[in-house]
Amino acid sequence: MKIGYLQRKASWEILLKVSSGYFSDQALEKVLKNYHFNTLDIAFVTELSFGCIRYRKFLDLWTDHISKIPYQKQPPKLRWLLHIGLYQLLKMDKIPFSAVLSTTVEVAKQTDLKGLSGTVNAILRNAVRKIETENFPEISNNSVERISYIESLPLWIVNELVSWVGIKDAENIAKAFNKKPTIDMRINLLKTNLENLLKLLKENKISAEAINKLNNGITLRSNPRNIKSLPGYKEGLWTIQDRSSQWVAPLLSPKEGEKILDACAAPGSKSTHLAELTNDNAEIIAIDRSEKRLKILRSNIDRLNLKCVKILKADATSLPNLYPNFLSYFDKILIDAPCSGIGTFSRNPDSRWSLNKDKIKELIKLQKKLLKNLFPLLKKDGILVYSTCTICPEENGLLIKNFINKNKKIKLDFQKQILPSFDFPGDGFYAARISYK
Ligand SMILES: C[S@@+](CC[C@H](N)C(=O)[O-])C[C@H]1O[C@@H](n2cnc3c(N)ncnc32)[C@H](O)[C@@H]1O
Repeated sequence: MKIGYLQRKASWEILLKVSSGYFSDQALEKVLKNYHFNTLDIAFVTELSFGCIRYRKFLDLWTDHISKIPYQKQPPKLRWLLHIGLYQLLKMDKIPFSAVLSTTVEVAKQTDLKGLSGTVNAILRNAVRKIETENFPEISNNSVERISYIESLPLWIVNELVSWVGIKDAENIAKAFNKKPTIDMRINLLKTNLENLLKLLKENKISAEAINKLNNGITLRSNPRNIKSLPGYKEGLWTIQDRSSQWVAPLLSPKEGEKILDACAAPGSKSTHLAELTNDNAEIIAIDRSEKRLKILRSNIDRLNLKCVKILKADATSLPNLYPNFLSYFDKILIDAPCSGIGTFSRNPDSRWSLNKDKIKELIKLQKKLLKNLFPLLKKDGILVYSTCTICPEENGLLIKNFINKNKKIKLDFQKQILPSFDFPGDGFYAARISYK
């Protein structure tokens, strides 16, 4: 099937779903169920819809530049369709302008925007004229505002980035938020190895390569149609896990026979990693307060055929009260805390628009409570790793520093902050290893 109006229509439907509260990946999955698309179509729909979601602010700026009605006053369905057209014109190289116009106008004609198809045509034609004559929207000279428009981020986020890392790194991080995320896999070494898995993928015409510095990570170069249909998935030969997240479980140096608590465990990428690293021969207690997410954890454990992970639904902050026998019980504790997720913005295109400072404040309260209430569950010679997929210092290094300053018997052994960067393919991540002095 040629890439035509149906792929644009599906992309537009994804934008509608996201604006009604769906996460981008849920919206994509739901919409794709209604179409019979091949791998190339899916890659196109993903790029177009996720690109429009990431670049919402930039596309609104352009909408105001080409239309008499400002974007806030456009009917939402029209606003999203204009974004579909504009993103192709401004950010996708290989599509002739004429094809963008005809297919996008066709979406209007085939849906309840029928009465506005002439308007869509006129506005997008105006956009083409302005692009061809290099008549671009004016953007302020202020560096923070420029990054906010060009990289399409809320102004408050750019201000935060600049206060954390300075303007130069903030710009690099902002650019990294708009790149296509990698698909990394962690090999289940209990069942296979790097060489055999690469061979299996190659036999199935899936292009993949080893990830430098990780002895059991590989990254896909092909665009798979559906992750779950890739060879070795059902057999539990691998788990999807970003390369930055893959170095967290090894920080605990997990060993056979140890008692390990994974306090915020679902959907289980780190619990299963811990089980694999201990030869499926440790006592791993995986806790989460979300029943729905624990179901996914259960299915991952079953698929990987791991036996040593016990699941418990609980609020981890209440564990010392719920299970007093857990005090000083664990050799290792992992708190992979709920966080603002700023390190994974490129993977979750909508999250930059739904996050706000109040949410971060609430998360910091919870993170502090998790750390304070769970540390006493550690044995005197144990190790606790606290990790997040964010780059906000108050959720990471500053939180750990305050905790240690208040507890003179605890020391920081190691910490690392990975910042998202345009040249680094993984997510932003933080981890700290702490223990008794
Ligand atoms: C960052 S995710 C964990 C990801 C997981 N460790 C992995 O690697 O797949 C944070 C998890 O914490 C859970 N959570 C949030 N607050 C919690 C609490 N008070 N007690 C237990 N789990 C909590 C969320 O439901 C979410 O699944």
